[in-house]
Amino acid sequence: MKFHLLLMLTCAFTSLVTSYQPCFAGQQHVDPQTGLVIADGYKIVTAYCIGCHTAKTIREHRATLDGWKTIIRKMQKTGRWQFDSHTEKMVLDYLSENYPLNSLRVHD
Ligand code: HEC
Repeated sequence: MKFHLLLMLTCAFTSLVTSYQPCFAGQQHVDPQTGLVIADGYKIVTAYCIGCHTAKTIREHRATLDGWKTIIRKMQKTGRWQFDSHTEKMVLDYLSENYPLNSLRVHD
């Protein structure tokens, strides 16, 4: 019990001094090249979404699933390509799960 308390305090303190890095942030794997969270759909996003701008544009954005849908539809128009519905769902799930609205911007 005491040990857990100590661990929590240490964690809270470390979070403070490292400016809002959440505790146990290491659980999420981030691609060292793009900084994008490695999860389902990440490869598609890497393949399609970092040709015109860097991954930072994506990492810095937060939106609901609908918000992301609006964005990727706009991107598809700009680039004149189209995801099939299965691929689009993978991309949307990835973005809305890893870069949801109101989340801390911990991946920047
Ligand atoms: C054909 C080029 C192109 C591709 C491919 C592309 N984008 Fe964009 N994206 C743009 C342009 C142009 C802008 C607006 C200006 C800027 O920020 O550079 C933009 C802006 C954004 C923004 C900032 C918010 C906004 O609405 O301006 C986000 C988020 C974004 N793109 C995500 C994505 C995602 C996710 C993908 C993959 C599905 C993607 N982009 C693929 C061209 C592209």
